[in-house]
Amino acid sequence: MKHLLKMLDLSSEEIIDILNLADQLKYEQKHNIPHKYLEGKTLGCIFQKASTRTRVSFEVGMYQLGGMPIFLSSNDMQIGRGEPVEDTARVLGRYLDGIMIRTFKQSEVETLAEKSGIPVINGLTDFCHPCQVLADLMTIREFKGKLQGLKMCFIGDGNNMMNSLIVGGLKTGMSVSVACPEGYEPAEEVLNFAKDYDCFELVRTPQEAAKNADVIFTDVWASMGQEGESEKRKIAFEGYQVNAELMKLAHADAMVQHCLPAHRGEEITADVFEAHANEIFEEAENRLHAQKAVMVKVMGNK
Ligand code: CP
Ligand code: NVA
Repeated sequence: MKHLLKMLDLSSEEIIDILNLADQLKYEQKHNIPHKYLEGKTLGCIFQKASTRTRVSFEVGMYQLGGMPIFLSSNDMQIGRGEPVEDTARVLGRYLDGIMIRTFKQSEVETLAEKSGIPVINGLTDFCHPCQVLADLMTIREFKGKLQGLKMCFIGDGNNMMNSLIVGGLKTGMSVSVACPEGYEPAEEVLNFAKDYDCFELVRTPQEAAKNADVIFTDVWASMGQEGESEKRKIAFEGYQVNAELMKLAHADAMVQHCLPAHRGEEITADVFEAHANEIFEEAENRLHAQKAVMVKVMGNK
């Protein structure tokens, strides 16, 4: 595995391999077992959007693996003043051992990977959020003991999270049911991938999607970069909420997952959020372990 650019690039075996290594690294960290698999390596972390979890988990993860992270805000880089990504890539490739980037366009991440000559990890684009979905799959497996045969459901926007969860869920043997309003569907590329799976459905009502679900996902109605559409989206997504009524349709022991940050009273109610806080914050913690696994896979010798 050279890069982590999108879930579509990974085989089912590669996903399971990452999850297994993530479990191992979590165990090693919890038991103070040395795991400095990236001693002496450097990771540049480029952020063109805000972040709490991604920034901190990559920086801490790199440190725990014996390497050094370098935080690079696009506001302070020449890329923020128009230096082409191709040039930035060719420069950074000569200094660093790997790059993590959070940006808008997926094509920028792909160009960075092509031109830098070093491993690139996608820390979120408008199209996808593979690091989050690997942590999500890790969390489901941790709580449920398996992925194969479970039903995942996603209520809300056909955004980076829905795109990545559809691919990650289907590739790991889950059935996937998503509900979104008209005009807010997942990306064409993802629907093309999913059309070969009988266990995938896109429906219009959250009730249909949540029926007999083992894990229910949701995410904000307006993602980063869409703040100007917030009011319009509040109207479009009315009813697309994970609440106690909806939870009654899922299995009694269904999990709830949210990548965070969450908007209580919009995509999820405060009571459902708090009732499932343990699963949601384990999911946030697992960003650290899953990303350490990705870094070791792409930058290490393991
Ligand atoms: N879930 C997630 O990626 O969080 P941040 O935006 O805080 O990094
Ligand atoms: N869909 C959200 C995810 C945040 C982690 C966004 O892109 O803002």
